[in-house]
Amino acid sequence: MKYLVTSALPYANAPLHLGHVLEIVQTDVWVRHKNLTEDEALYFCASDTHGTPIMLKAKEMNISPEDLIGELHHQHHETFRNFNVNLTNFHSTHSEENKELTSEIFNKALKKKYIYKKQISQLYDEKEQIFLADRFVKGVCPACGADDQYGDACEKCGSTYDALELKNPISVLSDTTPTIKESEHYFFKLNELNDYLKKNVQKISKQKPIKAKLDEWLNEDLRDWDVSRDEPYFGFNIPGEKTKYIYVWMDAPVGYLASIKNWTIQNNLNYEDLLKKDDIKLVHFIGKDIVYFHLLFWPAMLKTAEIESLDEVFVHGFLTIEGNKMSKSKGNFILAEKALAYANPDYYRYYLCSKLNTDISDIDFSVDDFIQKINSDLIGKFINIGSRTQNFLLKLNNSKVAPGNIKKSQEYSSTYKEIINFIDKKEYSKALKNIMSIADKMNAYVSNEEPWNKAKQGDEERCIEICSEAINVFKDLSILLQSFIPSISKNVFLLLNASDLSYEDLGADILNDVQKFEPFITRLEKNDFDGILD
Ligand code: 2FM
Ligand code: ZN
Repeated sequence: MKYLVTSALPYANAPLHLGHVLEIVQTDVWVRHKNLTEDEALYFCASDTHGTPIMLKAKEMNISPEDLIGELHHQHHETFRNFNVNLTNFHSTHSEENKELTSEIFNKALKKKYIYKKQISQLYDEKEQIFLADRFVKGVCPACGADDQYGDACEKCGSTYDALELKNPISVLSDTTPTIKESEHYFFKLNELNDYLKKNVQKISKQKPIKAKLDEWLNEDLRDWDVSRDEPYFGFNIPGEKTKYIYVWMDAPVGYLASIKNWTIQNNLNYEDLLKKDDIKLVHFIGKDIVYFHLLFWPAMLKTAEIESLDEVFVHGFLTIEGNKMSKSKGNFILAEKALAYANPDYYRYYLCSKLNTDISDIDFSVDDFIQKINSDLIGKFINIGSRTQNFLLKLNNSKVAPGNIKKSQEYSSTYKEIINFIDKKEYSKALKNIMSIADKMNAYVSNEEPWNKAKQGDEERCIEICSEAINVFKDLSILLQSFIPSISKNVFLLLNASDLSYEDLGADILNDVQKFEPFITRLEKNDFDGILD
């Protein structure tokens, strides 16, 4: 099977934060893991570039939207790399491929009469001379009554609605109460596809709370979706219109396909053929705030476009910092690049994954817990196996691992299989727990066997055997950990004079020379983290 995997496209108007890192690491781990199996996976992402916030941000900075999204595209790509995330292609929704694919889907939907035109009234900011859609009006949620909600969707109850339905609306741009003005808009009749969605979306969502939410939505009539916006707007014109634009949330998910298409062009492959193949599956990783877009609107668009490869939409919870929602005003906002100044990127990868599983509850990042977990697991358990045993092989066995010492490796082989299975099911916390429990057992084995005393007592052969057993398990754990901490594992492989080790090498007697361990990762100390939350 070949998986085309994506994470949500980041808006190109601000740098990435630790919440983005959570998602791109979760995605990258799964992609790396798949590539260690018989399957293959490719990771596609892109900048999400259109819409009012980006237009206004560029205006505020006195630059063109094109310059803004160009700069952030570059920055985001760099952050992906800095966190050891292996992208196959990082494209943009402001691209020829996306324009073409979006227009094609839009036109197909028009032809099939899923999209129709209707005159509507909308909130208008007289002071700023702009229609107030989406995020530029706030008020009380019409569904649950929560205060301070945006004009498109409620963060509290997840329902989506029209800005006109908000109670007590206020323009975020000018703090004035908006007026109501008429304009012609394009609507997608989502409810026409209700039966199709009922039959199909439960298959692409495998998580219980998400399935329940979908049931709730699909058992009621789905409201028509407004897919157009009036000028001024930064986006694609609606085919044949000069002053009307396609709403950013319609062209954004098409950006997944645009990134794939762009990659096929670069690699002389045929995009249409690729998507039609039976062994091609599309998998999206997203946060729980954008489920409606990915499990209702997007499958409806794909159905319109007659693309049938969507296999799974996998949802994670939000990242909280020290128990609170991340927010600049609370002073607990951690930008991705800033985090890198405090610790090795693989440390963040390990920590976040040690908390990730298939439920959608929030994941907390706490500095003390982070320090404790890294020092205890990665340094105290994992690296310790190698650093306390390899010295004996250097000194007593001419830097060689003695062949045939794979009893321990083989004893753990069924746990290795379980671990691989957990990673496959995206149960990372369970996988890592099992890996650390093997590390514990191996450290206990070394402590009990006391290879240092064997050497002292003249039984060098036994000392070499014990240490070789340990180094073989150390190699196995590095293989199992490599999707989580790719750069640390790579360093371990180098020290073991082995490269590109894969699941097939688990339990295998393949090591020969070892090199002297230079301490390439270090313990974290509390005072190293001064200022991380400022
Ligand atoms: O919520 C967000 O950050 C959006 N930029 C995600 C878009 S995902 C996809 F649809 F493009
Ligand atoms: Zn609500």
